[in-house]
Amino acid sequence: GVPRDLAGRRVVVSAGGTREAIDPVRFIGNRSSGLQGYSLARTAVARGAEVTVIAANVALPDPAGAKVVRVESTAELREAVLSASDGADAVVMAAAVADFRPVARSDSKIKKTSGEPEPIHLAENPDILAELGARRAAEGQGPSVIVGFAAETDNVLANGRDKLARKGCDLLVVNQVGEGLAFGRPDNAATILSADGASAYVPLGPKDDLSDAVWSLVSARL
Ligand code: C5P
Repeated sequence: GVPRDLAGRRVVVSAGGTREAIDPVRFIGNRSSGLQGYSLARTAVARGAEVTVIAANVALPDPAGAKVVRVESTAELREAVLSASDGADAVVMAAAVADFRPVARSDSKIKKTSGEPEPIHLAENPDILAELGARRAAEGQGPSVIVGFAAETDNVLANGRDKLARKGCDLLVVNQVGEGLAFGRPDNAATILSADGASAYVPLGPKDDLSDAVWSLVSARL
C-alpha cells in the first residue's frame, strides 16, 4: 500500500511554465507541460498531504483532491507561491519559470512593418525559489523543506550542486534535458541532490516514481 507519511502535512507544488505577454496575442513561454508537477500533486495527495498546486498554463485534468490555483505570468506565480507557502511544510518548485519578460506589454497587437522589426526589450524576472530560500534564511521561518528542479544540458551534477547552494534549497531534482528527454513525456530520470551532500539517482521510469522518491526524501526531513 501507499505510505500515508504526509498525513497532516501541507505542501505546495508549482507546475507548468510561465508566460510573459508581448501583446494581447503573443507571449514568451516554454515547453513545460505540467506533467511532473501534477504527478507530484497526485502522489502527495495519495500519501495523505493537503496539496495546493499553483498551475502555470497547464492543459491537463486537475489532480483529484488538490487545490488548484491558476496563474499565467511569473509575477502571478510568485504571488501565489509566496502566499500558499505561508505555513506550509514543504514547497516544491516544479514549474519552469520564464527568466525574462518584456519590459513593456503592448495593449494592441504589434503589426508587421516593412523593414526592421522593433526589438523586444527584456527585464529579468524574480527568482521565486531563491527568494523562498533567502526569506527562510533571513527570518528563520518558512517551509521546512524547499525543493527545486533544474533542467541542465551539460555538467549536470556540478551545475546542480552550484544551483542548490545558490538558491538555498534543501533538495534539487536535476534532470538532463535535450532532444527527446523529459519535456511532455510521461517518464523521467533524475538525480536528487541534498544540501547535506547526499545524492540519489532515480532511473528512467514513470514521472510518479520520481515524485515518490522526492516525497520520501521530503518526508524524512519533516
Ligand atoms: O535557475 P533555473 O531556472 O535553472 O532554476 C530552476 C528552479 O528554480 C526551478 O525549481 C524553478 O521553478 C525555480 N525558478 C524560480 N524562479 C525563477 C527561475 C527558476 O523559482 N525565476
